[in-house]
Amino acid sequence: MISRIVNKMSFFKKLPKAIVKPIFKVLILFDEVFWKFRIAIFLLFVGKASKLGSTMYQLKENGYAIFENYYNDNYINKIKQNCIKILDELPAKELNKNNYVPNLVLPSGLRVEKLDGSIKIKGLNQIDSFFKEISNNFRINIISAIYQLTRKPFLMYNLVHDGTFKHPAMGNSVGEKMIAGQAHVDMQFHELRCALALDNIDEDNGPTIVFRQSMKKKQIKKNHLNIFLNQFGFDTNNESGHNLNKDDLQYLEENSQKVKITCKKGDLILLDLKSAHYQSILKKGQRHILWHYC
Ligand SMILES: [Fe+2]
Repeated sequence: MISRIVNKMSFFKKLPKAIVKPIFKVLILFDEVFWKFRIAIFLLFVGKASKLGSTMYQLKENGYAIFENYYNDNYINKIKQNCIKILDELPAKELNKNNYVPNLVLPSGLRVEKLDGSIKIKGLNQIDSFFKEISNNFRINIISAIYQLTRKPFLMYNLVHDGTFKHPAMGNSVGEKMIAGQAHVDMQFHELRCALALDNIDEDNGPTIVFRQSMKKKQIKKNHLNIFLNQFGFDTNNESGHNLNKDDLQYLEENSQKVKITCKKGDLILLDLKSAHYQSILKKGQRHILWHYC
């Protein structure tokens, strides 16, 4: 919620950096304290043993969590079928004009991003009642209400493949470049993004890599502040913000555990956007994910 309030405060742009910097630090701290408080109260009532409680606890401790068997096999198959049905309806000719299509807006309102063997179809819940229902799922609603107070669900289907998925809308196999393939931090406040695995995600088919507990590390807290400063047009000189630089990566390699988030079909991966993460390269097979922005 705090990010939505802050986004409207464009007057920050007119203030000197020396004044906004301490204000931004206080806002980040406020978010942190209030977030910890909400989770503590939630865990007091729900306990860590329940699936919801354990997910919340993992998120708080590590910056990511896996909710196992979020949906059963039958329902996951149905979701995947519906995703592919939407893929079938895309204008293949237009998508194959260029190797990289950054943002094709369709008359339905769907937006498509495509890069060799990797496609993202954005806004499924805004055009389709089946996906709208998924975006209103009770358990995710509870988690996001506690985690970030507000919710504005947004669903995105992401398929990455090595040439084994034969489809007119995406002829090539995935290359060395991936969408979101560079290590980065997305937010300066605690917000969630979830990924529903429509197939098993293993070491080979491009798992998301997360640096465990990175959101709590001092070096990454500097990135949180710089993201905030960059958002309002302030220069952070050579210091990194959204994208991590060599020094940040070396620091994380030495001070944090790099985790490949592998999981089973039907599991839900939850990621705190203050965590450092990136999308690993797919070596083999296909990866079908329904992203759920909270
Ligand atoms: Fe990201």
